[in-house]
Amino acid sequence: MKDIVDQLEEKRAAARMGGGQKRIDAQHARGKLTARERLEILLDKDSFEEWDAFVEHRCTDFGMEDKKIPGDGVVGGYGTINGRMVFAYSQDFTVFGGSLAEGHAEKICKLMEQAMKVGAPIIGLADSGGARIQEGVVSLGGYADVFQRNALASGVVPQISVIMGPCAGGAVYSPAMTDFIFMVKDTSYMFVTGPDVVKTVTHEVVTAEELGGALTHSTISGVCDCAYDNDVETLLMVRRFINYLPSNNRQKPPYRPTPDKPDRMEISLDTLIPDNPNKPYDIKEVIHKVSDDNEFWEIQPDHAKNIVIGFSRMDGHPVGIVANQPLVQAGCLDIKSSIKAGRFVRFCDAFSIPIVTFVDVPGFMPGSAQEYGGIIKHGAKLLFAYAEATVPKITIITRKAYGGAYDVMASKHLRGDVNLAWPSAEIAVMGPKGAVEIIFRQDIGDDEKIAQRTEEYREKFANPFIAASRGFIDDVIAPHATRKRICRSLAMLRDKNLENPWRKHDNIPL
Ligand code: HXC
Repeated sequence: MKDIVDQLEEKRAAARMGGGQKRIDAQHARGKLTARERLEILLDKDSFEEWDAFVEHRCTDFGMEDKKIPGDGVVGGYGTINGRMVFAYSQDFTVFGGSLAEGHAEKICKLMEQAMKVGAPIIGLADSGGARIQEGVVSLGGYADVFQRNALASGVVPQISVIMGPCAGGAVYSPAMTDFIFMVKDTSYMFVTGPDVVKTVTHEVVTAEELGGALTHSTISGVCDCAYDNDVETLLMVRRFINYLPSNNRQKPPYRPTPDKPDRMEISLDTLIPDNPNKPYDIKEVIHKVSDDNEFWEIQPDHAKNIVIGFSRMDGHPVGIVANQPLVQAGCLDIKSSIKAGRFVRFCDAFSIPIVTFVDVPGFMPGSAQEYGGIIKHGAKLLFAYAEATVPKITIITRKAYGGAYDVMASKHLRGDVNLAWPSAEIAVMGPKGAVEIIFRQDIGDDEKIAQRTEEYREKFANPFIAASRGFIDDVIAPHATRKRICRSLAMLRDKNLENPWRKHDNIPL
């Protein structure tokens, strides 16, 4: 028996060495950790239970029959993060460049299926040269098997991708179908076609970093949700991030007790809104000040900055925050911000996370660039997402809520549960100046008359009381009481029960 146990240990030791010390050293020299080191940081100490460490490839072409490495380039299993069960896999770049082959894909699929069965999140750490070239179409099939499970797991368990090295070609589509993508700055990249193909096809010369690095995806494309400086920081942030999420779509998000009182007043909010309605202020100040312990986890902080999304907690319960940002493009809704917020609202709805919306929006961004880009369809994504959402929805209008954007931003008409306004709210079809220039067109040129009409319009419509008189706003509140009102509303909504009509699935304007 002892011999057999010794043999087992030998086999395990071989699996732990992955592609060998030389390749491990090369990985370290690039500032990257190995697949196993990453899992050690991601998961609670000693909690990792590895599966399929002895899986090997079955390829017999190109001399592969002599190159068998146990594990087939991916380390996977289950463990805990802060005591909560998760499934995780980590691609091992030291083994055939972390490339995905038949066995490798089967291992990932097995974990995904088990995660769905037990209702636990799945976290994938990507560091791979893509489809294993020696295996050809078999490896493409493996990718498709993973994609299929990504789609089936969507909305069932949270799926998080962490890009920690190359992720190229069709391989990008597994992370793309997951809920959140984290990237490591400088050492990771994602693209459908790499710099060489780009050069051949379009004659464009571009580096891998420019084409698909963390900076590109967290600013321009919005593919990346959160980017950090190195492997360790990124993995520690994933550990914290998951604390906001329920383990599956049947659970409520995890409660975290806080000494921060739910009825804490925030007097500074009473003077936050400038007297001049055209002057901006930072909506993030409001979010921080009303959230538990002033903490707010922003998602995509550097992309489509005219809308702010992320998680915070109210009286210990996680909430999703969506807020127009007056500091950027006056908080206008445009294509990118609608897509960014629309997807986030859908995530929150899928996982029972209440949505708190702060509104200060002068409307949709005008212009041919937006129209040609399809703002009609893209703006409708956010509208649709709010309209179909059945989770508790609390809306606070801090200042402008103009036109169609008023409707879109979780208005009462879209089944907003609690719709509150600050006294500074202006709820109208458009701003006073624009309105007067249309309905009193004959007075244009007479500055005095226009000024007088504008003032009249402002007095009549640029306030929350007309909407309140209709019941579109449940109450006009002092800004300093915002946290208390949100926390009380959430408590009232804790057992909210609302169901949409049965259907196979809806048809959101993609
Ligand atoms: C098999 C691979 C591999 C692959 C890398 N390796 N990619 N083996 N299949 N796809 C191996 C290398 O042979 C090498 O083995 C080791 O991994 C490290 O690779 P290097 O090239 O030395 O590393 P580096 O210089 O860092 O370059 C990394 C790389 C490059 C940029 C990822 O290896 C590369 O371009 N690989 C090919 C990428 C690619 O075209 N993949 C297919 C994409 S299409 P040794 O033994 O020397 O250590 C695709 C389709 C998916 O993925 C379809 C889904 C629908």
